Amino acid sequence: MDVFRIEGPVQLSGSVSINGSKNASLPIMAAAILTAGKSIFSAVPHLSDISVFGQLLGQLGCQVTRSPNGDLCIDSTVIDNPVGEYEIVRKMRASICILGPLLARCGRAKVSMPGGCAIGDRPVDIHLRGLRELGAQIRLENGYIVAEAPKGLAGKDIFLGGPFGSTVLGTANVLMAATLAKGQTVIESAACEPEIADLANCLNKMGAKITGIGSPRLIIEGVRQLQPTEFRVIPDRIEAGTFMVAAAITAGQLRLEHCRLDGMMAVVDRLRNIGVTIDSAGDGCVVARSGPIRPADITTQPFPGFPTDLQAQFMALLALGEGNSVIIEKIFPDRFMHVAELNRMAANLRKEGPVVIIAGVKKMMGAAVMASDLRASAALVLAGLAAEGVTTVNRVYHIDRGYERIEERLNPVGAKISRESI
Ligand code: EPU
Repeated sequence: MDVFRIEGPVQLSGSVSINGSKNASLPIMAAAILTAGKSIFSAVPHLSDISVFGQLLGQLGCQVTRSPNGDLCIDSTVIDNPVGEYEIVRKMRASICILGPLLARCGRAKVSMPGGCAIGDRPVDIHLRGLRELGAQIRLENGYIVAEAPKGLAGKDIFLGGPFGSTVLGTANVLMAATLAKGQTVIESAACEPEIADLANCLNKMGAKITGIGSPRLIIEGVRQLQPTEFRVIPDRIEAGTFMVAAAITAGQLRLEHCRLDGMMAVVDRLRNIGVTIDSAGDGCVVARSGPIRPADITTQPFPGFPTDLQAQFMALLALGEGNSVIIEKIFPDRFMHVAELNRMAANLRKEGPVVIIAGVKKMMGAAVMASDLRASAALVLAGLAAEGVTTVNRVYHIDRGYERIEERLNPVGAKISRESI
């Protein structure tokens, strides 16, 4: 198992290129199921989650390869085993987004019910409700979701909101299924995240008829079939936000290439409040901090609100703020595994239910800490860059799920991170 040994404090300076979005790539890969032929997706990052999803598509019958230029090719001519096995789904919850497209393509699907994970329960009831509205018969059998639509799916007006607002992958599942349903589907309370807009744009390129993209009301006119396509995935706004915090927490300056600020307004707004400057430059931006870290209040919300996937990273930053900050987690109320670890590094954080009160400290200190999930591990790496002494982050495989060779990208701009196998 790999660990990171991080020496701090450092001040970052230089240029980093932002990769394609993991959370856009995964449902777009699933969309290939809706076509019979070879689709080519570019800017799909080289991450373990992407490889696992490729294996999952391989089990269904697809051929998934990387071309020499790095493009991801999915040949979905044959899908003869519409089953998402427990062994893969348990590794990655995003596997659930094969359910809708399999049902639409094959008229049946069997996908392992995802369990909970380090960030909470994560139910899929809304996914199933939406697919049932389209006419699917769904039952739970030995830990598997078994869905059938022998006569095909039929369009419907569907409200897809839940107790925490919209659902990203739930919207992806129902949207993909609706593209091949008979008639019109309206999804109300659809997720507006840029990754869902990217999926919808990709589906339209495949021949789907979706309007309202980027809004909470998606209108889908079902078509008889979709064609394979070529599509470039959007840059990863969560990776960009993580590097922005890296510049901010080290009082450094980073130029982020391929970074779209239009999907990051809430993040940019909070960073500017904290005292970080962000200026557009070329196809990206320059992020810098020279003054103190001002305290801030942050509430995570569905897009266009502040993303839960950057909550942990901002907590690391605000731990070094000049005063008290508050973070309220409204998407995954238990997504706070990093709190105790940051406190091991001499942060002063107090959790009260879904709220964390952050009393800023002048400095944090290196310590051995444990990564628990992808974004929590990113927060520990960021804290390690700013903390005095050596931070050892265990279970680095969590970070490899969502950040491509993060140490090889941070070291050239001033970080001192070594990957060691233990
Ligand atoms: N929810 C339900 N019922 C459902 C589905 C969701 O109650 O059927 C609840 C969830 O428990 C949560 C809220 O609705 O409280 C929103 O969850 P959502 O369904 O939007 O999450 P997701 O689609 O499973 C995606 C990302 C997550 C990201 C969330 C929220 C992918 C592959 N995953 O998950 O990304 O945190 O949206 O933005 O796109 C990550 O990249 O580290 C990550 C966890």
